[in-house]
Amino acid sequence: GTDTLLRVTPSMLKEHRTREDAWSAFSGKVYNLTHYLPYHPGGEKELMRVAGRDGTKLFALTHAWVNIDYMLDECLVGFMVSE
Ligand code: HEM
Repeated sequence: GTDTLLRVTPSMLKEHRTREDAWSAFSGKVYNLTHYLPYHPGGEKELMRVAGRDGTKLFALTHAWVNIDYMLDECLVGFMVSE
């Protein structure tokens, strides 16, 4: 984890949409998915669909029971704010 959590705007989020630098937002929390990609049971390709954008809906559709907060605590970047 990090001590410095960021305030992330939608345009900032959009800048992080590559495999090497993949951020996504889930219920207002922004995570860096880069290091988790190879470990995602649903595959990298599925997870990359939400890179650079809000993944809340797709996450809820696929596995609402998975606890992101617990799993990706170390990958938390910050929180979504408006432009
Ligand atoms: C499976 C974690 C985001 C698509 C899984 C599983 C975990 C997981 C733990 C296994 C669940 C189980 O078997 O009960 C995560 C985490 C995510 C994330 C931590 C966010 C950071 C997504 C997104 C999508 C997705 C955004 C779709 C675009 C899938 C699919 C499976 C899966 C299709 C099923 C794979 C299978 O059973 O063959 N994910 N996931 N995941 N995930 Fe994700």
